Parts: sequence; C-alpha cells; structure tokens
Amino acid sequence: MTTRAVVRGVGHYLPDRIVTNAEFEKSIDTSDEWIRTRSGIERRHFAAEGQTTSDLGARAARAALADAGLEPDDIDAIVLATSTADLTFPSAATMVQAALGMTRGFAYDVQAVCAGFVFALANANAMILSGQARRVLVIGAETFSKLMDWTDRGTCVLFGDGAGALVLEAAEGAGTTADRGILSTDLNSDGRHRSILYVDGGVSTGTVGHLRMEGREVFRHAVEKLAETAHAALEKLDLSGEDVDWIVPHQANIRIIEATARRMQVPMERVVVTVQDHGNTSAASIPLALSVGKARGQIKQGDLLVAEAIGGGLAWGSVVLRW
Ligand code: UT7
Repeated sequence: MTTRAVVRGVGHYLPDRIVTNAEFEKSIDTSDEWIRTRSGIERRHFAAEGQTTSDLGARAARAALADAGLEPDDIDAIVLATSTADLTFPSAATMVQAALGMTRGFAYDVQAVCAGFVFALANANAMILSGQARRVLVIGAETFSKLMDWTDRGTCVLFGDGAGALVLEAAEGAGTTADRGILSTDLNSDGRHRSILYVDGGVSTGTVGHLRMEGREVFRHAVEKLAETAHAALEKLDLSGEDVDWIVPHQANIRIIEATARRMQVPMERVVVTVQDHGNTSAASIPLALSVGKARGQIKQGDLLVAEAIGGGLAWGSVVLRW
C-alpha cells in the first residue's frame, strides 16, 4: 500500500467586476481583435477596491471545504500560492486561516508566481506523504490587477484576479498509476531568466511596483518548457500524452496552450481552457480551471490530469494526478 494525496473537494471564487477587452480600447492603443487573436482573452475579473488576495482565497477555500463536506478545523494545513499577498507579511495563508475561523494546524504561502499552484501541490503532496499532515487546503489566489501599469498595453490587458482551492486528503492506494491522487511531480526554476518577467518593486524599493514582461521571450520559453515538464512528470510513471484525459494548463495565452497540447500530442478536446473568461490569474489559474472544468462536467472522478505552469523566475513545473 502507498499513501496518496487525493482530491476531496474543489472550489473557486471570481470577483464580481468583469472587464471586457473593449473597455481597454477607451484608455490605451489596443483592440478587442488584437487581444483575442494574440492571447485568446475576451474578459477578466478584477477585485473591488479594498478586496484583497486573502479575501478571494478565503471564499475559494470555503467553496472547496463545502464540496469536501468538511469544516475548517478538519484541515491540518493551508498552503497558499500567491505573488500578491495582502501585506509583505504575515502570509496570506494565515489571513485565510483567521478568516475561516480555523484555530488549529498551520498555514503558509508559497511564491513561485504563475507556477505557484503546481509548487504548492507538490509541497502539500510531500507533507501528506511524509505524514506531516493528513488534510491540506491548497489555494491559489491572486490580485494581479494591483500590479498593473495601466499605460503598458503589452501587459495590462493580459491579467485578471481570482482564486481556486483544493482539499487534499491522505488515502491508501495500491501504488499503481490507477490510484487516485497525485502520482508524480516535476519542478524547475532558472534564475538566470529572472529579468524577462518581474515586478519592479518590493521591500528593496519601498514600493509595490508594476509587472514588467518581455512577452515574446516568455512565450518562447513557455512553449519549450511546458511540454518538457509535462513529459518529465509522465515519464516518471511510464505514461505519455496518450494516457492523459485532461491537460489543465496555466491559462496565460491560448497559443501557448495549443502549442503545448500539440507537442504532447493531446487534442484540444482534452484541454481545459478558461483563458477567454479569466485572463492570466497567475497562481489561481490552474485551481480555477480545475473547479470550472469539474463544474462543466469535463473533469470526472478517475480521469488522469496533467497540470503544467510557467512564470516569473523563471519557475515551471507540472503535476500528474488522477482525479
Ligand atoms: O503567466 C506567465 C507567463 N506569461 C506568459 O506566458 C505570456 C507570454 N507571452 C505572450 O502571451 C505573448 O507574447 C503576448 C500576448 C504578451 C504578446 O503577443 P506576441 O504575439 O508575442 O506579440 P509581440 O509582443 O511580439 O507584439 C507584437 C506587436 C508589437 O508591435 P510592433 O512592435 O510589432 O509594432 C506590440 O507593440 O503587438 C503590439 N502590442 C499590442 N498591440 C495592440 C503589444 N500589446 C498590444 C496590445 N494591443 N495590447
């Protein structure tokens, strides 16, 4: 028998305010047509004034707990992936812990930018396999709208706000790829590429800063590295694209999603796509896609999923899991 980290519940939250591409035409030199064709994005949600990442995360967490039929105090740990924590410290995870009224266990943030949820899943999996925790709430929550330079058309049209969450629970499996739960992970980073996607503020500048991106360069790395990491995680299990029921990709750009699927030889009918509705929500994009994919009736119990993501660092990775 082998311990597995199995998904017991999933949920998400999107702020009420929806901003269409057309709204950007009023303030910058762009068009709905350019944004759609270059990125696949049609609309995104933005948090309200005063609405923080932990607010979004707590709502997604409550939805995932309800789906799991659990109470906050049934959870041993919260791992929250974000690059937009409410404050420099404490962690957004401890703020979610307090908002949920959870009085036991431990909570902390993981920061790997758009790859954050994949890193958080790998981290939660390791805690479950090592016996540190039996039930872990893994959250991806972001308010990237707070990092936008609204005069930079190359970035401000691409990002959105939101949150998604999973409840992972220890369960016994047979030790085969037929088991439910996380089956393999692959994590990578290369700090030499840190200047192609970063925020020009922080503790060292005394400002929050704005997101800066060399889009074309990030695109080039993404197309190459996402298929590589997905293959690496599948190879550990002697599996390939053919065995995959759903790719659940980081939702940055439909052209990156399509190129990765092509390289993995997985048809687009087996890819969960939400980029048109959410834009790039960084660490929230994969749990949002998991929750929406399940609600749409795409993802079903027993399906084999590959989640893959890349972002600032560069940091990238993937997780293979059976739902
Ligand atoms: O989540 C982290 C990972 N991030 C990503 O994966 C993002 C990766 N990059 C991308 O998704 C794409 O590179 C973008 C969507 C950012 C840009 O698409 P692109 O096809 O790489 O366009 P480009 O940057 O090469 O720009 C083409 C043209 C440029 O004009 P010139 O220099 O050819 O005259 C840009 O100035 O499009 C122009 N442009 C725009 N035009 C209208 C850039 N942004 C806009 C805009 N509206 N919003």
